[in-house]
Order: sequence, then C-alpha cells, then structure tokens
Amino acid sequence: MQNFVFYNPTKIIFGPGEIARVGKEAKQLGDTALIVTGKRSSSAHGIVNRITDYLEKEGVQAIVYDKIEPNPRTTTIDAAGELARQNKCDFILGVGGGSPMDAAKAVAVAAATGEPIWDYVAHGQPMPKPVRKALHLAEIPTLAATGSEFNSGAVISNWESHEKAVLGSPLLFPKFSIVDPELTVTVPKDYTIDGGIDIISHVIEGFFTGADNTPVQDRFSLSIMRTVMDYLPKAIANPGDIEARSQLSWSSAVALSGMINNGRGGAFPLHAMEHALSAHYDISHGRGLALLLPRLMEYTYEARPAKFAMMATELFGEIADGKSELDLARAAIDGMNDFLKSVDRFLRMPDVGISSDIHFAQMAEDTIRIYSRNKEFLDNPRPLYKKDIVRIFDNCM
Ligand code: NZQ
Ligand code: ZN
Repeated sequence: MQNFVFYNPTKIIFGPGEIARVGKEAKQLGDTALIVTGKRSSSAHGIVNRITDYLEKEGVQAIVYDKIEPNPRTTTIDAAGELARQNKCDFILGVGGGSPMDAAKAVAVAAATGEPIWDYVAHGQPMPKPVRKALHLAEIPTLAATGSEFNSGAVISNWESHEKAVLGSPLLFPKFSIVDPELTVTVPKDYTIDGGIDIISHVIEGFFTGADNTPVQDRFSLSIMRTVMDYLPKAIANPGDIEARSQLSWSSAVALSGMINNGRGGAFPLHAMEHALSAHYDISHGRGLALLLPRLMEYTYEARPAKFAMMATELFGEIADGKSELDLARAAIDGMNDFLKSVDRFLRMPDVGISSDIHFAQMAEDTIRIYSRNKEFLDNPRPLYKKDIVRIFDNCM
C-alpha cells in the first residue's frame, strides 16, 4: 500500500426527504444564493421550487441560473459567474446531475475571480492558474452517477477546441451536500443506467491500475460494483424503488470521494479516453464509458491477470478450481460483458451516434496531451500510446 493523505471536509446529509434541510444548512453560507441547475429536469420535477421555498423560509434569497447543458461548457459557466457577481451572491448551490454540480464548482471560481474559467482548467498547458479563491459551494445531486457531490473536482468542456478537462482544488469541496435519493426517482432509464456504469468505472479504474496489496481498497471497489450490479436492475424495473435508488446514490457519492482509492493510487485511462469522446461528440459520459470499458479490459488483462482473476472470483463468483490465472482473468471480461449486455450497454460507436473515425487520431492526441503525465502514454498496466488509443476507438466501431 502507498502512503497517503486523506482530506474530505464535505458534510453529507443523506436520506429520502433530507432535502427539507437545505434552508437551515444554506443559511450558514450566506444570504444570497445562485442556484446553478440544468435546463429542464430540476424545474420540471419541482425540485428547484421546493428548494427556493425552503431557502425563503430561512430568509435566503435565490437567483436561479438554469442554462447548464450536459457536459457543461466554459461559455455557460463564465456567464453564470458574471450573474453571481452582478447579484453579489454569497454562495453557489448546484442542483442536478454531474453537469450542473460541476458547473456550480466552476461558477464558484468564475464568480470569485471574474476571470475565464478555462484558465483554471488543466487542459494540457504547463501550469493551470491555481484556484486561490472561490465562493462557498453546496451541492444537491438529482442523479446517481458522478459523485461530484463528495469531491473537489469538476469536468469542464471547451466546445470551441473540443477539449474536456478537469478543474480541481481543495477550495471546491462542497460545504455540504444533500444526497436525497427521492430526487432521483424521475431519472429516465437511459441516464439511470449510464449513471450506474459511471459509478462502476470510478472504482474499477483504480482496481486495475493501482498498487498491489490493497485488499481494503479492492474489496471496497468490488462491494460498490456488486451493489450497483444488484440494484441497478431494480431501479430500471421500478424507477420509484427508493431502496434501490438509495443504494445507487450512496454508491455514487462514496465511489469518487477519495476514500476508495486512498493508498492504492492508480490512473483513470478509461475516463481520459471517454472525455475525448464526449468532447467531440457530446455524448452521455456513462454511455461513453460503457462503450470503451470492454475494449480497455481486453487490451489490459494479460498485463495484470491477478487483479482480473480476483474480480472473476470475488465479483462474478467464478470457481477457481483447476483454471489458470489467465483463464480466470478472461472470465472477468466475460462477466463484465454479460452485465453490460443485461443492462443494454454493450455498445458500439454507431449506438452512440458515431459512424466515422475521422476524429479518432485527434481524440487520441488530445487524450495524451491533456491526461498523460509524461506526454507519451496513459498510465495503465499495459501503457496506452496514441496508436493504442486509436486502436481502442477503432475496436469500438
Ligand atoms: O439537463 P437536465 O434538464 O438537468 O436533465 C438531465 C440530463 O438530461 C437529466 N437529469 C438529471 N437529474 C434528473 C434528470 N432527469 C430527470 N430527473 C432527474 N432527477 O439527466 C441528464 C444527464 O445529466 P448530467 O448532469 O449531464 O449527467 P451526469 O450526472 O452523468 O454528469 C455528467 C458530467 O459529469 C462529468 C462528466 O464528464 C459529465 O460532464 N463527471 C464529473 C465528475 C466529478 N465531478 O467528479 C466525475 C465523472 O467521472 C464525470 O467525468
Ligand atoms: Zn465518471
């Protein structure tokens, strides 16, 4: 296991109905909030109205900015930052899926600095501007997926350059997040599934790429994967199943909170490649991950058979007797593919609307430039050079 420092000061308020506590919690952050939310769902399902009512009862005024698109863009964020400045907002309240929650983090920086957010995003420049100030921030997830509610990162898209990259700072931990699974019952089937794949991806990447001898971390990861695999089908079958939604919401929050990967380190090659995909094609993050995951597992397993074999036996119940480690490792890929098929997410590029390979070389180059530490390859048990990334994209066709 590696040495580590763990710091996560976010106060999590969890449970069905806990949204009612937003007024009292928010009051501690100031008198005027900018609510940063998506274009439709939070308003359509009455979530924003409920929140503004709770805030009003505590004397907190709220301005609503409801223009955040999925894969949130720099232009939208800069505009929201300006609105927060004009209205002298004390804090930002993100409400929605990962896109509005990430946007809220970025708006907290844009509002405090008055500067373009892209300068602060690590998009391959030698050194992004360090975040030295940000407004207070709180988050209310309405979709179980990214875990943005319990971490200090945000993923921001620049639609002019077709780049998607990470903004991060300890100043961007939410002061509090209210994880109320009831808010997720209206998430349509497709995004419920995509969210489940995202949660699995957040723990599978460290599992395959992190240090050896990390049984606590590895079994945390397997536990989260098993929980999603058990409860995602229930949420699909019965969207109002609060128990299933609760399991997914907590899995989502904890997966990328730092807790799971402590001492294991590791890399995020799957996410790096997906970000290039959604930066060019604006697809759902979880769907892009589902597309790439089987091909990345196939590319990787022979370089780390022990971890794949552990997954086969402990996650998929494969019986080890007599089988070689490599055979067991293959069984993990079969198990994952079977799961993806069972939730209709064993995909090819055309299934997400991509019918040409015209951007693949550029996407691979962007991936290396933005996410590779040495600018040559992505860290992975079997390193991913530009040509390997192109081949993985090709294999998805
Ligand atoms: O846009 P609205 O109208 O809000 O509708 C959304 C959107 O269409 C809808 N939705 C959300 N909650 C709903 C709902 N519909 C009905 N009822 C509800 N309760 O779902 C759709 C997808 O929303 P979005 O926020 O885009 O999805 P997601 O949570 O998957 O977030 C994706 C973004 O997060 C980034 C991704 O790259 C992507 O930009 N990520 C952020 C991370 C982080 N901060 O830690 C880590 C992740 O790996 C990820 O990269
Ligand atoms: Zn993700």
